[in-house]
Amino acid sequence: MTAAGYVTDVTYVPGFYPQMSPVAMRYVAALNGVMPPRMAEGFRFLELGCGLGRCLTTLAAAHPRGEFVGVDLNPEHTAAVARDIAAGELGNARVITSDFGHVPADLGTFDFLALHGVYSWVAPSVREEILALARERLAPGGLLLVSYNAMPGWAHLQPIRGMLRQYAALRQGDSAQRVRDAVAYLVFMREKQAKYFEDNPRAAAYIDALLQQDPRYLVHEYMNEHWTSFYFAEVAGAFGQEGLSFVGSLPVFTNFWDLCVRPEFQELFRTTTNRLVTEAHKDFCANTAFRWDIYSKSPRLMRDPGERLREVDDLHYLVARPGVTLPYQANLGVVTSTVQGPLYQSLLGILGGRSRRLSEIVAAEELRGTPPVDIVRAVDAGVAMGLFDITAAAIGEVPTDLADAVSIAHPFNRAVLESDALGGRALALASVLSGTGHSVGDLDAAILHELTARGRAGLAARVAKRLEASGRTIQQNGQPVNDEAKRGQLVEEACQAFIATSLPELARLGIVTA
Ligand SMILES: C[S@@+](CC[C@H](N)C(=O)[O-])C[C@H]1O[C@@H](n2cnc3c(N)ncnc32)[C@H](O)[C@@H]1O
Repeated sequence: MTAAGYVTDVTYVPGFYPQMSPVAMRYVAALNGVMPPRMAEGFRFLELGCGLGRCLTTLAAAHPRGEFVGVDLNPEHTAAVARDIAAGELGNARVITSDFGHVPADLGTFDFLALHGVYSWVAPSVREEILALARERLAPGGLLLVSYNAMPGWAHLQPIRGMLRQYAALRQGDSAQRVRDAVAYLVFMREKQAKYFEDNPRAAAYIDALLQQDPRYLVHEYMNEHWTSFYFAEVAGAFGQEGLSFVGSLPVFTNFWDLCVRPEFQELFRTTTNRLVTEAHKDFCANTAFRWDIYSKSPRLMRDPGERLREVDDLHYLVARPGVTLPYQANLGVVTSTVQGPLYQSLLGILGGRSRRLSEIVAAEELRGTPPVDIVRAVDAGVAMGLFDITAAAIGEVPTDLADAVSIAHPFNRAVLESDALGGRALALASVLSGTGHSVGDLDAAILHELTARGRAGLAARVAKRLEASGRTIQQNGQPVNDEAKRGQLVEEACQAFIATSLPELARLGIVTA
Protein backbone atom coordinates (compact mmCIF):
# COMPACT_ATOMS: atom_id res chain seq x y z
CA MET A 1 0.00 0.00 0.00
CA THR A 2 1.38 3.42 -0.90
CA ALA A 3 0.23 6.92 0.07
CA ALA A 4 2.02 8.40 -3.02
CA GLY A 5 2.66 11.73 -1.26
CA TYR A 6 -0.72 11.99 0.50
CA VAL A 7 -0.48 12.97 4.21
CA THR A 8 -1.16 10.24 6.74
CA ASP A 9 0.21 11.62 10.03
CA VAL A 10 -2.87 13.76 10.80
CA THR A 11 -6.46 12.54 10.43
CA TYR A 12 -9.04 14.55 8.47
CA VAL A 13 -12.19 16.27 9.80
CA PRO A 14 -15.60 14.54 9.70
CA GLY A 15 -18.12 16.05 7.29
CA PHE A 16 -21.36 15.26 5.49
CA TYR A 17 -21.94 16.61 1.97
CA PRO A 18 -25.50 16.34 0.59
CA GLN A 19 -24.08 16.40 -2.94
CA MET A 20 -22.96 12.77 -2.33
CA SER A 21 -26.50 11.52 -1.92
CA PRO A 22 -27.64 9.13 -4.68
CA VAL A 23 -30.91 11.11 -4.69
CA ALA A 24 -29.03 14.28 -5.76
CA MET A 25 -27.03 12.39 -8.39
CA ARG A 26 -30.13 10.74 -9.84
CA TYR A 27 -31.97 14.04 -9.97
CA VAL A 28 -29.14 15.74 -11.90
CA ALA A 29 -29.10 12.83 -14.36
CA ALA A 30 -32.87 13.02 -14.91
CA LEU A 31 -32.72 16.81 -15.23
CA ASN A 32 -30.18 16.41 -18.03
CA GLY A 33 -32.15 13.74 -19.87
CA VAL A 34 -30.06 10.78 -18.68
CA MET A 35 -31.74 7.71 -17.21
CA PRO A 36 -30.43 7.29 -13.64
CA PRO A 37 -29.87 3.89 -11.99
CA ARG A 38 -32.95 2.54 -10.23
CA MET A 39 -32.95 2.28 -6.46
CA ALA A 40 -36.14 0.53 -5.42
CA GLU A 41 -34.77 -3.03 -5.70
CA GLY A 42 -31.44 -2.09 -4.10
CA PHE A 43 -28.22 -0.56 -5.38
CA ARG A 44 -24.46 -0.51 -4.74
CA PHE A 45 -22.51 2.63 -3.81
CA LEU A 46 -18.69 2.90 -3.68
CA GLU A 47 -16.90 5.83 -2.07
CA LEU A 48 -13.22 6.32 -2.86
CA GLY A 49 -11.21 8.17 -0.18
CA CYS A 50 -14.04 8.09 2.36
CA GLY A 51 -11.94 9.73 5.11
CA LEU A 52 -13.77 9.57 8.44
CA GLY A 53 -16.76 8.24 6.52
CA ARG A 54 -19.60 10.51 7.58
CA CYS A 55 -20.96 10.56 4.02
CA LEU A 56 -20.74 6.80 3.74
CA THR A 57 -22.35 6.00 7.08
CA THR A 58 -25.04 8.72 6.97
CA LEU A 59 -26.09 7.63 3.48
CA ALA A 60 -26.02 3.95 4.50
CA ALA A 61 -28.37 4.82 7.39
CA ALA A 62 -30.62 6.79 5.01
CA HIS A 63 -30.76 3.98 2.40
CA PRO A 64 -31.32 0.60 4.07
CA ARG A 65 -31.77 -0.99 0.62
CA GLY A 66 -28.39 0.22 -0.63
CA GLU A 67 -25.04 -1.47 -0.10
CA PHE A 68 -22.28 1.01 0.77
CA VAL A 69 -18.53 0.36 0.50
CA GLY A 70 -15.85 2.88 1.47
CA VAL A 71 -12.14 2.70 0.60
CA ASP A 72 -9.38 4.70 2.27
CA LEU A 73 -5.69 4.10 2.77
CA ASN A 74 -5.43 5.71 6.22
CA PRO A 75 -6.05 2.99 8.85
CA GLU A 76 -7.00 5.59 11.47
CA HIS A 77 -9.74 6.81 9.15
CA THR A 78 -11.06 3.34 8.38
CA ALA A 79 -10.95 2.32 12.07
CA ALA A 80 -13.17 5.35 12.88
CA VAL A 81 -15.56 4.42 10.05
CA ALA A 82 -15.71 0.81 11.25
CA ARG A 83 -16.55 2.04 14.77
CA ASP A 84 -19.38 4.23 13.39
CA ILE A 85 -20.69 1.33 11.31
CA ALA A 86 -20.79 -0.90 14.40
CA ALA A 87 -22.29 1.78 16.69
CA GLY A 88 -24.92 2.66 14.06
CA GLU A 89 -25.75 -1.03 13.44
CA LEU A 90 -25.25 -0.49 9.72
CA GLY A 91 -25.39 -3.98 8.26
CA ASN A 92 -25.36 -2.47 4.75
CA ALA A 93 -21.99 -0.67 5.01
CA ARG A 94 -18.36 -1.73 5.13
CA VAL A 95 -15.00 -0.06 4.86
CA ILE A 96 -11.79 -1.33 3.28
CA THR A 97 -8.28 -0.16 4.20
CA SER A 98 -6.50 -0.02 0.87
CA ASP A 99 -5.01 2.31 -1.66
CA PHE A 100 -6.94 2.67 -4.90
CA GLY A 101 -4.46 0.44 -6.75
CA HIS A 102 -5.10 -2.59 -4.54
CA VAL A 103 -8.84 -2.81 -3.93
CA PRO A 104 -10.02 -6.45 -3.67
CA ALA A 105 -10.51 -8.04 -7.08
CA ASP A 106 -13.92 -9.43 -6.09
CA LEU A 107 -15.44 -6.05 -5.21
CA GLY A 108 -17.89 -6.25 -8.11
CA THR A 109 -19.49 -3.28 -9.87
CA PHE A 110 -21.42 -0.31 -8.49
CA ASP A 111 -24.39 1.83 -9.55
CA PHE A 112 -22.86 4.88 -7.86
CA LEU A 113 -19.21 5.78 -7.44
CA ALA A 114 -18.31 8.96 -5.56
CA LEU A 115 -15.12 10.74 -4.59
CA HIS A 116 -15.10 14.05 -2.78
CA GLY A 117 -11.94 15.93 -1.86
CA VAL A 118 -9.68 13.39 -3.54
CA TYR A 119 -9.07 13.97 -7.27
CA SER A 120 -7.19 17.31 -6.96
CA TRP A 121 -5.08 16.19 -4.02
CA VAL A 122 -3.47 12.93 -5.20
CA ALA A 123 -0.51 12.04 -7.40
CA PRO A 124 -1.01 11.66 -11.19
CA SER A 125 -0.43 7.89 -10.75
CA VAL A 126 -3.27 7.75 -8.18
CA ARG A 127 -5.58 9.63 -10.57
CA GLU A 128 -4.80 6.89 -13.09
CA GLU A 129 -5.89 4.30 -10.51
CA ILE A 130 -9.10 6.25 -9.90
CA LEU A 131 -9.79 6.36 -13.64
CA ALA A 132 -9.17 2.60 -13.88
CA LEU A 133 -11.66 2.01 -11.05
CA ALA A 134 -14.19 4.24 -12.84
CA ARG A 135 -13.75 2.14 -15.99
CA GLU A 136 -13.87 -1.24 -14.25
CA ARG A 137 -16.18 -0.74 -11.26
CA LEU A 138 -18.95 1.51 -12.53
CA ALA A 139 -21.88 -0.53 -13.89
CA PRO A 140 -23.26 0.46 -17.31
CA GLY A 141 -25.73 3.30 -16.74
CA GLY A 142 -24.06 4.00 -13.36
CA LEU A 143 -23.26 7.50 -12.13
CA LEU A 144 -19.93 8.84 -10.88
CA LEU A 145 -19.53 12.00 -8.81
CA VAL A 146 -16.13 13.69 -8.68
CA SER A 147 -15.28 16.97 -6.92
CA TYR A 148 -12.13 18.99 -7.54
CA ASN A 149 -10.51 22.38 -7.17
CA ALA A 150 -11.31 24.18 -10.39
CA MET A 151 -9.79 26.80 -12.60
CA PRO A 152 -9.91 29.72 -12.96
CA GLY A 153 -11.25 30.28 -9.40
CA TRP A 154 -8.18 28.80 -7.74
CA ALA A 155 -5.65 30.65 -9.88
CA HIS A 156 -4.90 33.44 -7.41
CA LEU A 157 -4.46 30.95 -4.57
CA GLN A 158 -1.85 28.71 -6.19
CA PRO A 159 1.03 30.85 -4.84
CA ILE A 160 -0.44 30.72 -1.32
CA ARG A 161 -0.49 26.97 -1.43
CA GLY A 162 3.12 26.94 -2.67
CA MET A 163 4.27 29.27 0.12
CA LEU A 164 2.38 27.28 2.79
CA ARG A 165 4.10 24.06 1.75
CA GLN A 166 7.54 25.56 1.37
CA TYR A 167 7.44 27.21 4.77
CA ALA A 168 5.90 24.15 6.46
CA ALA A 169 8.77 22.02 5.13
CA LEU A 170 11.21 24.19 7.13
CA ARG A 171 9.35 23.62 10.40
CA GLN A 172 9.30 20.83 13.01
CA GLY A 173 6.44 18.72 14.36
CA ASP A 174 3.56 16.92 12.72
CA SER A 175 1.74 18.30 9.66
CA ALA A 176 -0.82 20.14 11.84
CA GLN A 177 1.90 22.02 13.74
CA ARG A 178 3.78 22.85 10.56
CA VAL A 179 0.67 24.14 8.75
CA ARG A 180 -0.18 26.34 11.77
CA ASP A 181 3.34 27.81 11.62
CA ALA A 182 3.00 28.34 7.88
CA VAL A 183 -0.33 30.20 8.21
CA ALA A 184 1.25 32.43 10.90
CA TYR A 185 4.07 33.16 8.47
CA LEU A 186 1.58 34.21 5.76
CA VAL A 187 -0.12 36.53 8.27
CA PHE A 188 3.29 38.05 8.96
CA MET A 189 3.97 38.50 5.22
CA ARG A 190 0.61 40.18 4.74
CA GLU A 191 1.19 42.47 7.75
CA LYS A 192 4.55 43.50 6.38
CA GLN A 193 2.94 44.16 2.99
CA ALA A 194 4.67 41.55 0.86
CA LYS A 195 4.12 42.79 -2.70
CA TYR A 196 2.18 39.64 -3.68
CA PHE A 197 -0.53 40.51 -1.18
CA GLU A 198 -0.53 44.16 -2.21
CA ASP A 199 -1.02 43.19 -5.85
CA ASN A 200 -3.58 40.43 -5.08
CA PRO A 201 -6.09 41.74 -2.54
CA ARG A 202 -8.32 38.66 -2.83
CA ALA A 203 -5.41 36.44 -1.89
CA ALA A 204 -4.67 38.77 1.06
CA ALA A 205 -8.30 38.51 2.22
CA TYR A 206 -8.14 34.71 1.90
CA ILE A 207 -5.64 34.56 4.78
CA ASP A 208 -8.53 35.43 7.13
CA ALA A 209 -10.41 32.39 5.86
CA LEU A 210 -7.33 30.22 6.52
CA LEU A 211 -7.21 31.45 10.11
CA GLN A 212 -10.80 30.23 10.69
CA GLN A 213 -10.10 26.70 9.45
CA ASP A 214 -9.46 23.58 11.46
CA PRO A 215 -5.71 22.77 11.09
CA ARG A 216 -6.64 19.19 10.13
CA TYR A 217 -8.56 20.55 7.15
CA LEU A 218 -5.60 22.76 6.21
CA VAL A 219 -3.24 19.78 6.36
CA HIS A 220 -5.35 17.74 3.93
CA GLU A 221 -6.03 20.70 1.64
CA TYR A 222 -2.49 22.09 1.41
CA MET A 223 0.19 19.75 2.79
CA ASN A 224 -0.07 16.95 0.24
CA GLU A 225 2.80 16.62 -2.16
CA HIS A 226 0.44 16.77 -5.13
CA TRP A 227 -2.26 19.37 -5.60
CA THR A 228 -3.74 20.33 -8.92
CA SER A 229 -6.63 22.58 -9.84
CA PHE A 230 -8.23 21.47 -13.09
CA TYR A 231 -10.11 23.01 -15.94
CA PHE A 232 -13.40 21.24 -16.58
CA ALA A 233 -12.18 20.10 -20.01
CA GLU A 234 -9.17 18.30 -18.48
CA VAL A 235 -11.35 16.24 -16.14
CA ALA A 236 -13.97 15.59 -18.82
CA GLY A 237 -11.15 14.47 -21.16
CA ALA A 238 -9.68 12.07 -18.57
CA PHE A 239 -13.02 10.42 -17.73
CA GLY A 240 -14.03 10.50 -21.40
CA GLN A 241 -11.02 8.29 -22.23
CA GLU A 242 -12.45 5.69 -19.83
CA GLY A 243 -15.82 5.73 -21.58
CA LEU A 244 -17.62 8.09 -19.17
CA SER A 245 -19.70 11.02 -20.41
CA PHE A 246 -20.36 14.27 -18.57
CA VAL A 247 -23.97 14.42 -17.37
CA GLY A 248 -24.24 17.58 -15.26
CA SER A 249 -23.12 19.11 -12.01
CA LEU A 250 -24.06 20.14 -8.50
CA PRO A 251 -25.34 22.35 -6.99
CA VAL A 252 -28.41 22.03 -9.20
CA PHE A 253 -28.36 25.67 -10.38
CA THR A 254 -25.04 25.05 -12.15
CA ASN A 255 -27.01 23.07 -14.76
CA PHE A 256 -28.84 26.26 -15.78
CA TRP A 257 -26.44 28.58 -17.54
CA ASP A 258 -28.82 31.54 -17.20
CA LEU A 259 -28.57 31.13 -13.41
CA CYS A 260 -24.75 31.12 -13.51
CA VAL A 261 -23.94 33.73 -16.14
CA ARG A 262 -25.01 37.38 -16.21
CA PRO A 263 -27.33 38.29 -19.14
CA GLU A 264 -24.64 40.24 -21.01
CA PHE A 265 -22.60 37.00 -21.43
CA GLN A 266 -25.47 34.73 -22.43
CA GLU A 267 -25.35 35.07 -26.22
CA LEU A 268 -22.65 32.39 -26.56
CA PHE A 269 -24.77 29.96 -24.55
CA ARG A 270 -27.76 30.50 -26.81
CA THR A 271 -25.78 29.60 -29.92
CA THR A 272 -23.32 26.95 -28.70
CA THR A 273 -24.32 23.50 -27.51
CA ASN A 274 -20.81 22.06 -27.06
CA ARG A 275 -20.59 21.41 -23.31
CA LEU A 276 -16.77 21.60 -23.30
CA VAL A 277 -17.06 25.16 -24.60
CA THR A 278 -20.01 26.33 -22.53
CA GLU A 279 -18.71 24.90 -19.25
CA ALA A 280 -15.36 26.67 -19.80
CA HIS A 281 -17.08 30.00 -20.45
CA LYS A 282 -19.42 29.47 -17.50
CA ASP A 283 -16.47 28.81 -15.17
CA PHE A 284 -14.79 31.96 -16.43
CA CYS A 285 -17.92 34.12 -16.03
CA ALA A 286 -18.51 32.73 -12.52
CA ASN A 287 -14.81 32.38 -11.56
CA THR A 288 -15.58 28.82 -10.46
CA ALA A 289 -13.21 27.54 -7.75
CA PHE A 290 -14.75 24.14 -7.02
CA ARG A 291 -16.75 21.69 -9.12
CA TRP A 292 -18.95 18.68 -8.34
CA ASP A 293 -19.33 16.88 -11.67
CA ILE A 294 -21.42 13.85 -12.52
CA TYR A 295 -20.47 11.34 -15.23
CA SER A 296 -22.25 8.33 -16.58
CA LYS A 297 -20.98 5.12 -18.09
CA SER A 298 -22.83 4.21 -21.29
CA PRO A 299 -25.65 6.66 -20.49
CA ARG A 300 -29.12 5.83 -21.72
CA LEU A 301 -30.63 9.07 -22.97
CA MET A 302 -34.31 9.71 -22.38
CA ARG A 303 -36.11 10.50 -25.60
CA ASP A 304 -38.66 12.98 -24.32
CA PRO A 305 -39.88 14.62 -21.09
CA GLY A 306 -42.67 12.04 -20.92
CA GLU A 307 -40.08 9.32 -20.42
CA ARG A 308 -38.79 11.11 -17.33
CA LEU A 309 -42.34 11.30 -15.98
CA ARG A 310 -42.79 7.57 -16.54
CA GLU A 311 -39.37 6.21 -15.63
CA VAL A 312 -37.99 8.50 -12.90
CA ASP A 313 -41.19 9.09 -10.98
CA ASP A 314 -39.85 7.76 -7.69
CA LEU A 315 -38.35 11.15 -6.70
CA HIS A 316 -40.54 13.42 -4.57
CA TYR A 317 -40.65 17.22 -4.43
CA LEU A 318 -41.65 19.62 -1.67
CA VAL A 319 -41.22 23.23 -0.60
CA ALA A 320 -37.77 23.57 0.95
CA ARG A 321 -38.60 26.17 3.61
CA PRO A 322 -41.97 26.64 5.24
CA GLY A 323 -43.45 30.13 4.93
CA VAL A 324 -41.83 31.04 1.59
CA THR A 325 -43.68 33.80 -0.28
CA LEU A 326 -43.41 35.17 -3.80
CA PRO A 327 -41.58 36.94 -5.31
CA TYR A 328 -38.74 34.76 -4.06
CA GLN A 329 -35.17 35.85 -4.69
CA ALA A 330 -32.10 33.65 -4.71
CA ASN A 331 -28.55 34.87 -4.97
CA LEU A 332 -26.59 32.21 -6.79
CA GLY A 333 -23.07 33.57 -6.80
CA VAL A 334 -22.95 36.06 -9.64
CA VAL A 335 -26.65 36.14 -10.58
CA THR A 336 -29.64 37.09 -8.43
CA SER A 337 -32.76 35.33 -9.74
CA THR A 338 -36.39 35.94 -8.92
CA VAL A 339 -39.24 33.42 -8.87
CA GLN A 340 -42.76 34.78 -9.29
CA GLY A 341 -46.02 34.32 -11.20
CA PRO A 342 -49.16 32.18 -10.99
CA LEU A 343 -47.47 28.89 -11.93
CA TYR A 344 -45.08 29.16 -8.98
CA GLN A 345 -47.90 30.33 -6.71
CA SER A 346 -49.76 27.11 -7.54
CA LEU A 347 -46.63 25.00 -7.07
CA LEU A 348 -46.05 26.51 -3.63
CA GLY A 349 -49.59 25.47 -2.71
CA ILE A 350 -49.25 21.96 -4.13
CA LEU A 351 -45.81 21.25 -2.59
CA GLY A 352 -46.21 23.26 0.61
CA GLY A 353 -47.90 20.59 2.72
CA ARG A 354 -46.71 17.16 1.71
CA SER A 355 -44.32 16.06 -1.03
CA ARG A 356 -45.53 14.92 -4.47
CA ARG A 357 -44.09 12.94 -7.34
CA LEU A 358 -43.61 14.70 -10.69
CA SER A 359 -46.57 12.79 -12.20
CA GLU A 360 -48.78 13.95 -9.31
CA ILE A 361 -47.69 17.58 -9.75
CA VAL A 362 -48.40 17.49 -13.48
CA ALA A 363 -51.85 15.98 -12.83
CA ALA A 364 -52.76 18.49 -10.08
CA GLU A 365 -56.15 20.12 -10.54
CA GLU A 366 -54.66 23.57 -9.84
CA LEU A 367 -52.41 23.23 -12.93
CA ARG A 368 -55.05 22.06 -15.39
CA GLY A 369 -54.32 23.59 -18.80
CA THR A 370 -50.61 24.22 -18.18
CA PRO A 371 -48.46 22.05 -20.50
CA PRO A 372 -46.56 19.37 -18.50
CA VAL A 373 -43.28 20.46 -20.05
CA ASP A 374 -43.74 23.98 -18.59
CA ILE A 375 -44.63 22.56 -15.19
CA VAL A 376 -41.58 20.30 -15.11
CA ARG A 377 -39.33 23.18 -16.19
CA ALA A 378 -40.74 25.38 -13.40
CA VAL A 379 -40.24 22.64 -10.80
CA ASP A 380 -36.63 22.15 -11.94
CA ALA A 381 -35.91 25.89 -11.88
CA GLY A 382 -37.49 26.01 -8.39
CA VAL A 383 -35.19 23.19 -7.24
CA ALA A 384 -32.22 25.04 -8.76
CA MET A 385 -33.09 28.19 -6.84
CA GLY A 386 -33.56 26.38 -3.53
CA LEU A 387 -37.34 26.77 -3.47
CA PHE A 388 -38.05 23.02 -3.66
CA ASP A 389 -36.24 19.96 -2.23
CA ILE A 390 -36.04 16.50 -3.76
CA THR A 391 -36.58 13.52 -1.49
CA ALA A 392 -36.33 9.75 -1.78
CA ALA A 393 -39.80 9.01 -0.39
CA ALA A 394 -43.06 10.74 0.48
CA ILE A 395 -42.84 13.36 3.23
CA GLY A 396 -46.02 14.31 5.08
CA GLU A 397 -47.25 17.46 6.80
CA VAL A 398 -45.25 19.08 9.60
CA PRO A 399 -46.69 17.52 12.79
CA THR A 400 -48.39 20.04 15.06
CA ASP A 401 -49.04 17.83 18.08
CA LEU A 402 -45.69 16.31 18.99
CA ALA A 403 -45.86 14.41 22.24
CA ASP A 404 -43.65 15.45 25.14
CA ALA A 405 -41.67 12.23 24.90
CA VAL A 406 -39.80 11.88 21.61
CA SER A 407 -37.11 9.45 20.59
CA ILE A 408 -34.50 9.00 17.87
CA ALA A 409 -35.51 6.20 15.57
CA HIS A 410 -32.23 5.09 13.98
CA PRO A 411 -29.33 3.66 16.03
CA PHE A 412 -26.93 5.53 13.74
CA ASN A 413 -28.48 8.90 14.62
CA ARG A 414 -28.46 7.96 18.30
CA ALA A 415 -24.77 7.11 18.09
CA VAL A 416 -23.91 10.36 16.25
CA LEU A 417 -25.74 12.44 18.87
CA GLU A 418 -24.05 10.50 21.65
CA SER A 419 -20.56 11.07 20.28
CA ASP A 420 -20.75 14.48 18.56
CA ALA A 421 -23.22 16.77 20.38
CA LEU A 422 -21.32 19.90 21.51
CA GLY A 423 -18.35 18.76 19.43
CA GLY A 424 -17.91 22.27 18.04
CA ARG A 425 -19.24 21.50 14.56
CA ALA A 426 -22.60 20.75 12.95
CA LEU A 427 -23.46 17.10 12.55
CA ALA A 428 -25.71 15.31 10.07
CA LEU A 429 -28.61 13.03 11.00
CA ALA A 430 -29.84 10.49 8.46
CA SER A 431 -33.41 10.46 7.13
CA VAL A 432 -34.73 7.40 5.31
CA LEU A 433 -37.55 9.55 3.92
CA SER A 434 -35.37 12.25 2.36
CA GLY A 435 -32.57 9.80 1.52
CA THR A 436 -29.91 12.17 2.80
CA GLY A 437 -28.41 13.72 5.94
CA HIS A 438 -29.71 16.83 7.69
CA SER A 439 -27.39 19.26 9.34
CA VAL A 440 -27.97 20.07 13.02
CA GLY A 441 -25.83 22.61 14.90
CA ASP A 442 -23.86 21.19 17.81
CA LEU A 443 -25.92 23.05 20.44
CA ASP A 444 -29.19 21.86 18.87
CA ALA A 445 -27.71 18.35 18.85
CA ALA A 446 -27.09 18.62 22.60
CA ILE A 447 -30.67 19.84 23.13
CA LEU A 448 -32.03 16.95 21.06
CA HIS A 449 -29.86 14.47 22.92
CA GLU A 450 -31.03 15.69 26.33
CA LEU A 451 -34.63 15.86 25.15
CA THR A 452 -34.69 12.29 23.90
CA ALA A 453 -32.68 10.88 26.78
CA ARG A 454 -34.44 12.55 29.72
CA GLY A 455 -37.51 14.47 28.46
CA ARG A 456 -38.57 18.13 28.62
CA ALA A 457 -38.55 18.74 32.38
CA GLY A 458 -35.50 20.82 33.32
CA LEU A 459 -34.21 20.67 29.74
CA ALA A 460 -32.52 24.08 29.61
CA ALA A 461 -30.81 23.59 32.97
CA ARG A 462 -29.41 20.23 31.85
CA VAL A 463 -28.17 21.64 28.54
CA ALA A 464 -26.57 24.60 30.37
CA LYS A 465 -24.79 22.15 32.69
CA ARG A 466 -23.48 20.19 29.72
CA LEU A 467 -22.26 23.37 28.09
CA GLU A 468 -20.38 24.34 31.19
CA ALA A 469 -18.81 20.91 31.54
CA SER A 470 -17.70 20.91 27.90
CA GLY A 471 -16.22 24.42 28.02
CA ARG A 472 -18.12 25.44 24.89
CA THR A 473 -18.96 29.14 24.92
CA ILE A 474 -22.31 30.70 24.02
CA GLN A 475 -21.99 33.70 21.74
CA GLN A 476 -24.14 36.76 21.23
CA ASN A 477 -23.33 39.22 18.44
CA GLY A 478 -20.08 37.33 17.87
CA GLN A 479 -18.96 37.79 21.51
CA PRO A 480 -18.78 35.06 24.20
CA VAL A 481 -21.37 35.53 26.96
CA ASN A 482 -19.73 35.23 30.39
CA ASP A 483 -22.63 36.25 32.62
CA GLU A 484 -24.20 33.06 34.00
CA ALA A 485 -27.79 34.35 34.16
CA LYS A 486 -27.58 35.68 30.60
CA ARG A 487 -26.14 32.35 29.43
CA GLY A 488 -28.99 30.50 31.10
CA GLN A 489 -31.53 32.74 29.37
CA LEU A 490 -29.93 32.20 25.95
CA VAL A 491 -29.93 28.42 26.46
CA GLU A 492 -33.60 28.58 27.48
CA GLU A 493 -34.38 30.54 24.29
CA ALA A 494 -32.37 28.08 22.18
CA CYS A 495 -34.34 25.16 23.67
CA GLN A 496 -37.68 26.84 22.98
CA ALA A 497 -36.71 27.75 19.41
CA PHE A 498 -35.50 24.20 18.78
CA ILE A 499 -38.75 22.66 20.08
CA ALA A 500 -40.89 25.13 18.10
CA THR A 501 -39.19 24.88 14.69
CA SER A 502 -36.43 22.27 14.29
CA LEU A 503 -38.06 19.43 16.23
CA PRO A 504 -41.24 19.29 14.09
CA GLU A 505 -39.08 19.32 10.93
CA LEU A 506 -36.96 16.44 12.28
CA ALA A 507 -40.18 14.57 13.10
CA ARG A 508 -41.48 15.22 9.60
CA LEU A 509 -38.29 13.68 8.21
CA GLY A 510 -38.75 10.61 10.42
CA ILE A 511 -35.50 11.34 12.31
CA VAL A 512 -37.44 11.93 15.52
CA THR A 513 -40.47 9.82 16.41
CA ALA A 514 -43.17 10.46 18.98
C1 LIG B 1 -9.43 15.29 1.78
S1 LIG B 1 -9.80 13.70 2.32
C2 LIG B 1 -11.52 13.57 1.89
C3 LIG B 1 -12.23 12.60 2.76
C4 LIG B 1 -13.74 12.50 2.54
N1 LIG B 1 -14.05 12.14 1.16
C5 LIG B 1 -14.41 13.79 2.94
O1 LIG B 1 -14.76 14.57 2.05
O2 LIG B 1 -14.57 14.03 4.13
C6 LIG B 1 -9.05 12.58 1.10
C7 LIG B 1 -9.05 11.13 1.56
O3 LIG B 1 -8.48 10.31 0.51
C8 LIG B 1 -7.66 9.31 1.11
N2 LIG B 1 -6.66 8.91 0.08
C9 LIG B 1 -5.70 9.70 -0.47
N3 LIG B 1 -4.98 8.99 -1.38
C10 LIG B 1 -5.50 7.74 -1.38
C11 LIG B 1 -5.17 6.55 -2.11
N4 LIG B 1 -4.18 6.53 -2.99
N5 LIG B 1 -5.91 5.44 -1.87
C12 LIG B 1 -6.92 5.46 -0.95
N6 LIG B 1 -7.27 6.56 -0.24
C13 LIG B 1 -6.57 7.69 -0.45
C14 LIG B 1 -7.04 10.01 2.31
O4 LIG B 1 -6.57 9.12 3.29
C15 LIG B 1 -8.20 10.88 2.80
O5 LIG B 1 -8.97 10.22 3.74
